[in-house]
Formats: sequence, C-alpha cells, structure tokens
Amino acid sequence: MNHIPSIKDIDVKGKKALVRADLNVPMAHGKISDHTRINRVLPTIRELMKRGAKVIILSHFGRPDGVYDPSFSLAPITDALAKALGVDVKFGVDCVGHAAEEAVANLKAGEAILLENLRFHAGEEENSADFADQLATLGDIYVNDAFSCSHRAHASIVGLAERLPSVAGFLLQEELENLENLLSHPKKPYAGIVGGSKISSKLELLDALVNSVDLLAIGGGMANTFLAAKKFNIGTSSYEKNLLATAEKILKKAEKNGCEILLPSDVVVAADLDYSPECEVVAAEKIPADKMALDIGPETVKAITEKLRGCKTVIWNGPLGAFEYPPFDVGTISVARAIAGLTKASGLVSVAGGGDVLAAIAKAGLSNQFTYVSTAGGAFLEWLEGKELPGITALHQQNLKQAKA
Ligand code: 3PG
Repeated sequence: MNHIPSIKDIDVKGKKALVRADLNVPMAHGKISDHTRINRVLPTIRELMKRGAKVIILSHFGRPDGVYDPSFSLAPITDALAKALGVDVKFGVDCVGHAAEEAVANLKAGEAILLENLRFHAGEEENSADFADQLATLGDIYVNDAFSCSHRAHASIVGLAERLPSVAGFLLQEELENLENLLSHPKKPYAGIVGGSKISSKLELLDALVNSVDLLAIGGGMANTFLAAKKFNIGTSSYEKNLLATAEKILKKAEKNGCEILLPSDVVVAADLDYSPECEVVAAEKIPADKMALDIGPETVKAITEKLRGCKTVIWNGPLGAFEYPPFDVGTISVARAIAGLTKASGLVSVAGGGDVLAAIAKAGLSNQFTYVSTAGGAFLEWLEGKELPGITALHQQNLKQAKA
C-alpha cells in the first residue's frame, strides 16, 4: 500500500480544512462518560489551527437515521471540545446548506467550528453524490482523522476523499501505523481476548481469530452461549439459543487449528443487575437456576493472567462482564491491570480496541499502560478480520490520483 500523506505534508495556511473526526462519545445520564475520542483528535485540530487553517470539524453522533433529533445534537460536544482545546470552538447549526456556508464564511484563519451531526441528513450514510458535493463546497482540503469511522462508506468518509485533495490526520495515521506494526505479523505466542454480549455481533472476528491466535479467552455475555453449547447449566444468563451450533463449530475449528480456547471456569452471579449486593462467585458449570452470570470470576482472571505470562502479543476487544454496573466491572478491570502489568514487566505487546474496553481501561487509569489502545470499535474489528476499510481505500486512491496529476 502506498503511503497516505498527512497534514504535515501540505500547506494549510488560510485554507478551509474539512476535518472528519469521530466525536461519537459515550454518554451516561446526559454527560460524556469517556472523553478519549475527544482528547485523541486534539493534536490534529491544534496543528491545523496553529498553522492558520480554517478548521471545519465534521462528525456524526449516534444513529439518528437521517432526521433531525435534538437528543443527538453535537452542540454539547462543542463545549467539551473547546474546553479540551482551551480555545473557543464555534458551532454550526447544520453541516450543509445556507447555515453551514454562512458559518464557514465567517470563520477566520486559526479558528475552528464544529458543524452539526452529519447523520441528520440521510445523504451521509447513503453516500449520496448531492450531499457529498454540498459538504465538499465548504472546504479546500479534506482531513480524515476518523479511523474509527473508516469502515463506513459514508459521504464524509468516502465522498469527500473523492472530491477534495485529501490527507490523513495524526490520529488516523497513528491508528494505522500501530495496528500494522504491532499486529500484521504479531510476535507469538499470540493471544486474543474477546468479550461483549453477543457472538452474533463478533462472529467474523471469532472466526478470524481462531485462525491466527494461539489462545482465545472468551468472556462477557457471549461466553454464556459457549457454556450452554458445552451443556453447562447457565441459569437465567442471557445467551443466543440460535447460535449454539455456531459456538460448537467455533470450538471445533479452534481445536483443529491448535488454538486453545479459555472459557470462564467461574463466574459472578446475581438474580439480575439490581441485585449486586447479593452477588456470589460460583463454578461456571454450576450456575443456580434462578441466577445469571454477570462477570468472570477470580479463578478465570487468574487463569487468563497465567496464560498471558507465556504470550508475546495480546489483542482485546469487548468487556468481560457487565462492566457499566459495578461490582460487575471487577473481571474486566482486573484483566486490564494484569495486561498493563505484563506489558511493563515482560514487554507483552498489548493492543485493545472497542468503545467499552476503551472506557474500562480509561476508568482504571491504564490508558497509557497498554502498548496501544485504539479509539475504534467496528473499524478495529473489521481491520482485524482483514477487511478493506472504504475510508482508507478512498484516501489511497485520491493520493494516487493526486500523484499522477
Ligand atoms: C463507532 O462508535 O464505532 C463509530 O463512531 C462508528 O459508529 P457507527 O457504528 O454508528 O457507524
């Protein structure tokens, strides 16, 4: 693959730079619960402002399905972004049309504006030519700094790269370089840890990993389906009944490939999430009929830690329990601490990605103690599955076109 130029490689002074960021941050009770995605895009915005560009920031927020919905407005994120940057950031009430054009026309060199949620327009997800044209008229250059959205063939990701001179932002560059350097030819033994609630949303990842890793530890809700496939009593734990055969197939494929599967040997159970004071640790094959598994237990944490001691690389996606509801975050946080410790003590190459794991690692104060933490969720999965990311392909193609011109 040819190299994608970055903002360092071009003159931006006085130019209108359309920066696609991913400000799709998690919220809890109306407040941003994890600022990582905001913090990680700051270097690109700062650099462009410092060098006198007019910085026009584009992002989606949630999935409003092409219609205006105030609960998905980016207005509150503008304040958080301004606070993080330490300078004023203007807000544009629409990302296209007269309002956007006027707001951009009033922008001075060195200033930044965040335009309203791209997904208030159906043309964004449809990658409609008309919508991409409207966005493109707002800028002179396009900067993709949203690796985490680059698996989406949307107008602000692909359409803009096709229409404007395009470069990568620092975060996109960092994400690609780290994933390629650390995981294209991982040092072996190579381990995967996968959690989250459903096998169905990570089928392709599990399938790809049993082909490449030496050890795969499975936790979170999806482990229940594997435990059920092994005919364990899983009480009232949620699981995917229609995927029992798929779970069995994954287990068989792993065995054939010499990939060791580590399922929870003990779990933390309660009647449901509201009954945390009454939670208890039980063996995974003996979950009481009226209880559900809500976290991995201490013996499982120990087993994962022990196995990782013998590994050189680990990738992690998906929480290992209902981590938003303490004390069911203990398993996820304990594994995060163990990985951080091994990264420091024995040079384990540790790479984590996905919104929930990102939030859990940040909550535990361990973000700087992994070799690399990706801001991407779906894009991280698709990259690991070996899929082409349309946003990255579009940048490469535009770059080739520019080089030939
Ligand atoms: C993410 O949160 O992974 C990105 O912001 C992409 O969001 P999406 O899955 O709604 O496209």
